Amino acid sequence: MKKIKARLIKSHLTHQIRNKVLWPHKNQENCAIKEDLLKETFHVGVFLNEELVSIGTFIKIDNNLFENKHKQYRLRAMGTSKEHQKKSMGEKLILHAKKILITKKVDILWCDARKEAITFYKKIGFKTKGSYYKIPKIGIHKLMYLYL
Ligand SMILES: CC(C)(COP(=O)(O)OP(=O)(O)OC[C@H]1O[C@@H](n2cnc3c(N)ncnc32)[C@H](O)[C@@H]1OP(=O)(O)O)[C@@H](O)C(=O)NCCC(=O)NCCS
Repeated sequence: MKKIKARLIKSHLTHQIRNKVLWPHKNQENCAIKEDLLKETFHVGVFLNEELVSIGTFIKIDNNLFENKHKQYRLRAMGTSKEHQKKSMGEKLILHAKKILITKKVDILWCDARKEAITFYKKIGFKTKGSYYKIPKIGIHKLMYLYL
């Protein structure tokens, strides 16, 4: 029987999937981001039979396109290993993170969504805001957000 579990993970555990799924143009050693070890940052992983298959990083940072009365977090570096995509791993990750964000009284989770991932985010409740923009070396993105 398949055992699926979402839980908090240490940042270094995200590097392999970040490298393979998100940033193949980098070396795995360069897949850390500067906010990884901040006190307010947390990382969620989904494990399928003890194998880490999906990751996401949640950073306390405001986007000034949202009203500053709202407490905001940013989702970064969300990815599911290729072999396990479209098996609800990403959705489980967001559900787990939502519970944590709600305990922190966060109002809005936002992200720069890759164009190819917009349908995924919409399916789990995110909305889009504004127009497309290009992020060098990565591609076309749109700002997306979820009210918690
Ligand atoms: C986008 C991504 C994180 C989604 O993770 P996932 O584990 O495959 O997502 P889930 O299986 O939980 O998907 C939830 C729903 O979204 C759909 N979905 C997932 N990825 C999709 C995609 N790329 N296009 C269209 N629909 C998608 C699923 O089919 C599912 O729909 P359903 O509920 O109708 O069955 C994953 O595909 C990925 O890592 N992609 C490459 C890296 C990337 O683009 N990351 C996002 C950076 S902003």
